[in-house]
Amino acid sequence: MATLTGAGISAESGVPTFRGPGGLWRNFRPEDLATPEAFARNPNLVWEWYDWRRSLIAKAEPNAGHRALAELESRKAGKFWLITQNVDGLHDRAGNRRIVKLHGDIWTVCCVGCGAEKRNVQVPLAPLPPRCECGGMLRPGVVWFGEMLPAKALEQAYAIAQRAEVFLVLGTSSVVYPAAALPRIAFDHGARVIEINLEPTELSSLAHISLRGKVGELLPQILTGAR
Ligand code: OAD
Repeated sequence: MATLTGAGISAESGVPTFRGPGGLWRNFRPEDLATPEAFARNPNLVWEWYDWRRSLIAKAEPNAGHRALAELESRKAGKFWLITQNVDGLHDRAGNRRIVKLHGDIWTVCCVGCGAEKRNVQVPLAPLPPRCECGGMLRPGVVWFGEMLPAKALEQAYAIAQRAEVFLVLGTSSVVYPAAALPRIAFDHGARVIEINLEPTELSSLAHISLRGKVGELLPQILTGAR
């Protein structure tokens, strides 16, 4: 059993999504804030935006949807994988350990000079842009538009999708590839694909079951029913 999660699962924790009403990409241009070119042009601006997001996320708590997935992992004892597009770390904080992070982690920083990667939970970050011990500039440890996904995570995610018997797709618009290919791969390999989303998505017509509503409300109900 496996799941793919997107920004919608963190919406109930107060973390903005990207494309819905109030979504980040409604108010900000990705090409100004989430590309390697934007960072090269204006690292301060990019860091200010990430610092703002980090402070927002730091105040957020995992919600009932995150907690239900942590419970699922403990129930399934070694047979449940969580693949996420989210960088907020709320799945870790809820207690999941078998997590594949496709788009990185906002709580890691990478040196553009020496390539060192480390965890950094300082909020707010000062001074901006932060620097590595080697003197190089640090960047957020997330995947930007135009960049490849981490190869190991992607490979692992494909393998999980191919093996899953049940594949849950929670709170994602299913428009960003390669993540959006995973439920389709799972489907092609015989998985039951179950979607929970507030609205119909690109995946809804393919899913065996597509439920309309909040992950934080529906998923705990399903788990209670499946006891
Ligand atoms: P989106 O913002 O594209 O989609 C969020 C989805 O969650 C929408 O389909 C909403 O209808 C749904 N939703 C919102 N609240 C919900 C709730 N409480 N319960 C259930 N569904 C809810 O976010 P993602 O699909 O995660 O990439 O976006 C994918 C990627 O696009 C992100 O990882 C990010 C972005 O650009 C990078 O930064 C690389």
